[in-house]
Amino acid sequence: MISSLRGMNDILSDDYERFTYFISTATKIAQRYGFHFIETPLLEETALFKRSVGESSDIVGKEMYQFIDKGENDVCLRPEGTAGVVRAFIQKKLDRAGGIHRFFYHGAMFRYERPQKGRLRQFHQFGVESFGVDSVYEDASMIMMVSDILKTLGIGYRLQLNSLGCNACMPPYRQKLIKFVKECVDNICEDCIRRVDTNPIRVLDCKNGSCQELYVGAPKLLHNLCSECSNDFDTLKKILENNGIEYEVNTNLVRGLDYYSKTAFEFVSDNIGSQSAIAGGGRYDRLVEFLDGRPTPAVGFAMGIERLMELIVMPERKKEGYYIGAMDDEALDLAVKIAHQKRNSDIVSIDYKTKNLKNHLKTADKENVKYCAVIGSNEMKDGTIWVKNLEDKTEQTLLLEDF
Ligand code: HAM
Repeated sequence: MISSLRGMNDILSDDYERFTYFISTATKIAQRYGFHFIETPLLEETALFKRSVGESSDIVGKEMYQFIDKGENDVCLRPEGTAGVVRAFIQKKLDRAGGIHRFFYHGAMFRYERPQKGRLRQFHQFGVESFGVDSVYEDASMIMMVSDILKTLGIGYRLQLNSLGCNACMPPYRQKLIKFVKECVDNICEDCIRRVDTNPIRVLDCKNGSCQELYVGAPKLLHNLCSECSNDFDTLKKILENNGIEYEVNTNLVRGLDYYSKTAFEFVSDNIGSQSAIAGGGRYDRLVEFLDGRPTPAVGFAMGIERLMELIVMPERKKEGYYIGAMDDEALDLAVKIAHQKRNSDIVSIDYKTKNLKNHLKTADKENVKYCAVIGSNEMKDGTIWVKNLEDKTEQTLLLEDF
């Protein structure tokens, strides 16, 4: 038997209901915030991710599904959605058009990680990207949107916030941090030694406990922000407070992708084990320019659908639609015709096996429909159909034209 690849799951049955319920809820909320759907390819040039997510990130360094295609192009399956949306934004010349452009998307992402609970190799994200707004109110609006989605789905969360500074304050901070880390280089892990040269701020979220103990005394990014970044961060906190959104400031939150500046945030859940990040995002004002577009401020987030699925509180499933059954062979053709007409407006299931009323009712009950409608030779003669409302248990015989 051929099975699915490690870390790649099928989504069906109960999972599919949760999956589609999540997508429809998140879509509705993103649309209320003025976002429009965008779809980008699953396969892109590898260079796109190298230049955006960053060569020093784990995602690009270790986790890409990368290959040379039949045309000798170096391509890879997208590990995340932002880079493709930025590429599409520039390719459509929306950076030149100016104005505000807001997109949402959902789909499969691929990262060759070590699979474990909540960590897959093919997983699904729901994400949004906003272009053209440099106000920190847009950052707050992103956070409010995630909060709205999670609340609607009945999911509790902790929100962690940080600022990663800008071109003015990040480089001097980086130098201070490098100096600090080099002083304790004999006692840090191999990954951190490598990071000092490739991406020093990533040392701050090292998972190694003894490194973390050393970094307690490291200079803090939030204490080294320029006045603009610092004011923006204060404003962001104030907007969240005014809107009843609780947060924790986490000075070690650096995110695993290189394109961020200023606001960075992560939503975590304490109810799903070690892979606790359920959504993450932030501002990335330099990325459009970095991918050869006109400088355009941008901010966005993505949520991990599989991690959220087990947390969703599903609404009670209501009985819906019709079940149509025939009691004998002569009635079956008419039942099929009635079902076909009824599908213009309703969900209709039909059983092609002829059986008695009791058995039709049993099947209808299993299918969770609201009405069980059955037709036999008597009804055919009279031009009627027998209908039972499975909610209030009332029964009626209706003329076919009234049905
Ligand atoms: P990210 O933090 O890498 O950000 O991923 C966002 C979310 O995707 C995570 O919080 C997590 O829930 C889920 N996720 C990530 N990796 C896996 C995995 N291997 N298995 C299951 N779920 C996973 C981004 O991808 C950015 N593009 C977000 C963004 C959009 N920033 C600005 N705009």
